[in-house]
Amino acid sequence: MTRKNYQAFRLPASWVVMSLFMLTITYSSCYYDVEEELYDPKCDSLDVTYMGTVRGIVFSYCQNCHNTGVESGGVILDTYEGIRAVVDDGRLLSAVKRDGVASPMPPPPSTRISDCAIEQIEVWIRRGAPKN
Ligand code: HEC
Repeated sequence: MTRKNYQAFRLPASWVVMSLFMLTITYSSCYYDVEEELYDPKCDSLDVTYMGTVRGIVFSYCQNCHNTGVESGGVILDTYEGIRAVVDDGRLLSAVKRDGVASPMPPPPSTRISDCAIEQIEVWIRRGAPKN
């Protein structure tokens, strides 16, 4: 191999190394963005309780239409037992996530409740939806 040939080989090789390096950076920064979106650091999904978290979410988003005086769709959400009933049949999570099974809640034109609120409700349900 002459010296000239060797140099001709070196240039592309260094470009390959450089491209791989850039790709790694690009890929890892994209991955980081996705992580950040999934696990919102400002969302406290560890310290989640019925009294401290879930009741407040349901109160602000749902209780106008779902209380012991106004039982829209037969759903009561101002008592633990009422909330628990639609937790257990899966309709509460389905409604707030708007997954197409239960009616989307709160109903349009209202939009989805915040991702953080959904995550907190989901965590509470996964822990067995305790009255804590
Ligand atoms: C503006 C009034 C209104 C608000 C606010 C509202 N709902 Fe409803 N909801 C209704 C009505 C009306 C129905 C019955 C008709 C239907 O199912 O679409 C209903 C039905 C439901 C059902 C039964 C759905 C089914 O497919 O069987 C669930 C569960 C429910 N609501 C949960 C909630 C939750 C949780 C919230 C708060 C995040 C909420 N709703 C907010 C009016 C409301």
